[in-house]
Amino acid sequence: MKRRNIILDCDPGHDDAIALLLCCYSDKLNLLAVTTAAGNQTIEKTTRNANNLLHFFNSQNIPLAMGASSPLVRPIQTCPEIHGESGLDGFDFPLYEEHYDKREGYQLIIDTIKENDDVTVITTGPMTNLAKAIKAEPNITSRIKEIVLMGGSTTEGNITKAAEFNILVDPEAADICFSSGVPLRMLGLNVTRKILVDDKVMLEASKIKTRGGDLFVKLMKVFNENQRKFFGLTAGPLHDPATVISLIDDEVFTFKDMQVKIDISNTDLVGKTYCLLDKPHNTKVAIEVNLDKYWENIYSALRRCK
Ligand code: RIB
Ligand code: CA
Repeated sequence: MKRRNIILDCDPGHDDAIALLLCCYSDKLNLLAVTTAAGNQTIEKTTRNANNLLHFFNSQNIPLAMGASSPLVRPIQTCPEIHGESGLDGFDFPLYEEHYDKREGYQLIIDTIKENDDVTVITTGPMTNLAKAIKAEPNITSRIKEIVLMGGSTTEGNITKAAEFNILVDPEAADICFSSGVPLRMLGLNVTRKILVDDKVMLEASKIKTRGGDLFVKLMKVFNENQRKFFGLTAGPLHDPATVISLIDDEVFTFKDMQVKIDISNTDLVGKTYCLLDKPHNTKVAIEVNLDKYWENIYSALRRCK
């Protein structure tokens, strides 16, 4: 079966790390490139983390380019409270060589889309790089099969009452992506906050005696502890892998066609995703998740990371 061409734009970040593992170990996906965003941590740190992860997953041959160091127009916001000083606290990687593509992230996105057919762009951080690519080369939109993002919410935000982190950090970038005419698939907090790395998950993962299992348990211990401290959650929500799983297993999420618009005002609603049913739709919005099947996909990928 033909693998689906994908680009992953991410801000690793604990949950981004597991999304990248799924990309590297799925026989349904063809990971063409990885680009990094400033979000969970600064661009230098998220890029170093992506580099370490690609080496750890024996995928260091995949082109990796550093993305924008700040949002399109607003100041950078990071989230060390959850992801720590390194952006990926909890696991000590060997000293891998730092091997980055010489192009900026948005340029690698443009070139990859021009050189390959039917590319799906997955974003699991602020959408700055994809927005810059679309602004620089608008005709790539006709070549993008789908934009699949972790971001937004049909209900409340997580950083403000209105806004989810990835959209809030760069609402202008999200607005460009949602107005681009490219079909979108949105995995928002309304489903991802149900996907908790609870004790049952940690017990199951601890039985997986592979490098992937070990990485997951060590990273999630820190992720969970920080989620408890910062958000008061009983366990951390594993947001970002939802994007990848929605592409490799169509029995996990249920979607509804909606029109999604981004609030780019300078009010306390900035970054809100307005999800409208009675308008011409631009987005498939996830509204339900089958948790057993979600975790089956995670465990299966951890087993393959030997
Ligand atoms: O709001 C959750 C999102 O923000 C996730 O992608 C997490 O990694 C952070 O980027
Ligand atoms: Ca992320």
